[in-house]
Amino acid sequence: MKELRFDGRVVVITGAGAGLGKTYALLFASKGAKVVVNDLGGGRHGEGKSSKAADDVVAEIKRNGGIAVADYNSVVEGEKIIKTALDNFGRIDVLVNNAGILRDKSFPRISNLDWDLIQDVHLKGSFKTTQTAFTLFKKQGYGRIIMTTSTSGLYGNFGQANYSAAKLGLVGLSNTIAIEGAKYNIHCNCITPTAASRLTEDIIPPDIFNELKPEFIAPVVAYLCHESCEENGSIIESGAGWAGKCHLIRSNGALLRSNMADAVTIEKVQENWSKITNMENAQHFNKSSEATMFLVSALESIREGTKTSSNNDDVNIVDYTEKDVILYALGVGASLANESDLQFLYENHENFSALPTYFVCPALTAIYMSRNSGITNIPGKEISLEKVLHGEQYLEILGSMKTSGRLTTKVEVVEVLDKGSGALIVTNVDSYDEEGNLVVRNQLATFAIGAGNFGGPRIGSKLVSCVTKPTRSPDMALSYKTAVDQAALYRLSGDFNPLHIDPNLAALGGFEKPILHGLCSLGISVRLVLMAYAGSDASLFKALKARFVKPVLPGQTLTVNMWRDGNRILFETFVAETNVIVISAMDLKSATVHEGAPKDTKPQTTLTISDADFIDLATGKLNAQTAFMKGKLKVAGNIMLAQKLGPLLKSEAKL
Ligand SMILES: *[C@@H]1O[C@H](CO)[C@@H](O)[C@H](O)[C@H]1NC(C)=O
Ligand SMILES: *[C@@H]1O[C@H](CO)[C@@H](O)[C@H](O)[C@H]1NC(C)=O
Ligand SMILES: *[C@@H]1O[C@H](CO)[C@@H](O)[C@H](O)[C@H]1NC(C)=O
Ligand SMILES: *[C@@H]1O[C@H](CO)[C@@H](O)[C@H](O)[C@H]1NC(C)=O
Ligand SMILES: *[C@@H]1O[C@H](CO)[C@@H](O)[C@H](O)[C@H]1NC(C)=O
Repeated sequence: MKELRFDGRVVVITGAGAGLGKTYALLFASKGAKVVVNDLGGGRHGEGKSSKAADDVVAEIKRNGGIAVADYNSVVEGEKIIKTALDNFGRIDVLVNNAGILRDKSFPRISNLDWDLIQDVHLKGSFKTTQTAFTLFKKQGYGRIIMTTSTSGLYGNFGQANYSAAKLGLVGLSNTIAIEGAKYNIHCNCITPTAASRLTEDIIPPDIFNELKPEFIAPVVAYLCHESCEENGSIIESGAGWAGKCHLIRSNGALLRSNMADAVTIEKVQENWSKITNMENAQHFNKSSEATMFLVSALESIREGTKTSSNNDDVNIVDYTEKDVILYALGVGASLANESDLQFLYENHENFSALPTYFVCPALTAIYMSRNSGITNIPGKEISLEKVLHGEQYLEILGSMKTSGRLTTKVEVVEVLDKGSGALIVTNVDSYDEEGNLVVRNQLATFAIGAGNFGGPRIGSKLVSCVTKPTRSPDMALSYKTAVDQAALYRLSGDFNPLHIDPNLAALGGFEKPILHGLCSLGISVRLVLMAYAGSDASLFKALKARFVKPVLPGQTLTVNMWRDGNRILFETFVAETNVIVISAMDLKSATVHEGAPKDTKPQTTLTISDADFIDLATGKLNAQTAFMKGKLKVAGNIMLAQKLGPLLKSEAKL
C-alpha cells in the first residue's frame, strides 16, 4: 500500500502543545508536512499563558528531522495563527482546529463568563482560524479543515452544558463550510475523539484511560486531511483504535392530516407519536434541500388525499376488521362442521386467528386502490385488465397476523419479463403495521396476453420460484367440495371482478359459467394443508408459492395432494370431477394459459356515474377503479371494458 505523505503541505494545528494536538503535530511532521504548532500554553481551564508547550513540541519535531514553527496566539485571534503559517512557509493546506478548554459545572451554575469563555475558545476560535484559512484555500483551490467536536456535544453530558453547546455548534459550522467549500476542493470534517488528555484525565477510569492514546486517533485525523480523502461534511468518532462515522437520521414520520382540509390537532400528534418516533428505515439527509423535498412529497400525498407514509412509492392504507377475517374464512370454506374451525369464525374464541391466506386480500385491495393501478401501468406499455391473468402468487408472513388493524401497503412493479406471447409482470406488495414493521409480503406474477415481444429480458431475478413436486405418490390428500355460492361469498373479501359472478361476462370470457377466484382455490388448498399438517394452527404458516393453471367452477371438488419435505409441505390441487390440475408447482412452460378477452362483436358496457364524478374521472382526479370500488361508478355488462375509459378520456375527450 502506498504511504500517504504530506510533503510540501503546510499544516496548522491549534492547541498542539500537548495531548491530541501534539500527537497530530508529530505525525504530520513525520510525514513531511511543515507544521505550525499553536499553543497558548494555558492550563486545562484556559488560565495562564506561556510559550513552553509549543516550543517543546517544535523542538521534538526538529530533533526528529521535521520542520515546524511555534505560535502562541489565542485562537480568538485566529487570523494571527494563520499569518504565522504564511510568514514562515508561504501557504497553508490543512487546518486542524483542536484547541479547547473545559470548565465543568452543572447547568444552573454556569456563569456568563464561563459561557463566553467556552464559546470563545471552541466556537469563535474555530471560526476565526477557519475563516482566514478558507479565503486562502479558496484562492489555491485546495484545503482540508478539521473541527474537533465531542461526544458531549453529540450526546450531551452532565455538567457540560456550555461545552456541549459549543461543540455541537462546531458541527453546524462544519456542515456549512463543507457545502460552501465543496466546489473549491475544500473539505471540512469533524473529529469526535475519545482520548486520554489533560481534558479527560479525571473523567475516565484509569484502565480505560491508558488505552485512549492520542496515537490511535491521529492517523484518522491525518487521513481526513490527506488530498486523497474524499470525505466532506462528516463526523468521525474515534478512540482506542476504532473509528466510525456518525450522522443524524430522521424517521419516515407520519402524516398528521389526510387532506388539505384537515386540521393538525394535538391529539393527532399524540395518536401518531409512535410512528413519528419509529426509527426503523430512518434516513440520513445529506442536504437540507433533500430533507425539505421529503416534506414536499408528504404535502403532495396530503393533496392527493391519500394517507401515505409520505414517500413517492405507491402506498395505500388498508383497514381490516375481525369481520373481514371471518368473512374470508367462510369464503374459503372454514365451517363449524369441523370444531377446530371455530377459531377462524368466532372473534371471542380463545385462539381466534386469521387464516394466513387472508393476507392476500390487503394486497389485492391495495392494487385496486393503487394510483398507478399496479399491474396494468407498465411504463411504455398499454395493458388493459381484461388481458391480464393472475399467474402466480407468493405470500410470506413476517410479523404477527393480527385479526384487525391497519396495513400500510406499498405496491411496486419490480420486473416485467418478455415471454413472447405476453409480458410477465412481477409486482411486490409489502404491508406494514402501524408501527412500521413489515408484516406481510405478497408477490403477484400476472401474465398480460399479447403484451410480449417488446425486447425485454426473458428471465428475471425478482420472481420467487415454484418448487417442483416430488415424483413419489402423495403423502396425504384432502378434498373439499366447493359450494355453488363459493365465489359469491369469496368475492365479498374484496375481489369484485364480475367474471366470478356475472354469467354474461363469464360467457364473454369463454367460460360456461362464472369461475371461482384462483385465490379462493388457493385459500381452500392452504386451509386443507394446515388441517393436515398443522392442526389448523395458523401461526405455523410461514410462506407459500403457487401457480394457477386452470380455472375452477363453483360446485366442483378440490383435492389437494400433499408431500411433506421437512417443515415444508408441497402441494398440488386438482378438480376431482375432471382430474384437471388447477394449482401446480410445475414449470410455467407446461401450464396452459387461457385467453379471457371478450369476443369482439358483442357489446358491451353501460356506465352510470354522476356528472361531478364524471368530470373528476375525466380530469384524472378520480381513478375509474376506485370509483367502481366506492360505488360511484356503476357498470353493467362488461366491466373490463370500463378499464379503457381512463386512457380514452385522456386522449380523446375534449371537455
Ligand atoms: C464535499 O465535497 C464533495 C466533493 O469534493 C462533494 O461531493 C460533497 O457534496 C461535499 N459535501 C457537502 C456536504 O457539500
Ligand atoms: C394520525 O394522523 C392522521 C391524520 O393524518 C389521523 O387520521 C389519525 O387518526 C392519526 N392516528 C393514527 C394512529 O394514525
Ligand atoms: C446521501 O449521500 C449518500 C452518498 O452519496 C447517498 O448514498 C445517500 O442516498 C444520500 N442520501 C439521500 C437521502 O439522498
Ligand atoms: C387454543 O390453543 C391452545 C394451544 O394450541 C390449546 O391448548 C387450546 O386448547 C386452544 N383453545 C381452544 C378453545 O381450542
Ligand atoms: C378437523 O380439523 C382438524 C385439524 O384442524 C383435522 O385434524 C381433522 O381431520 C378435521 N376433521 C374433519 C372431519 O375434517
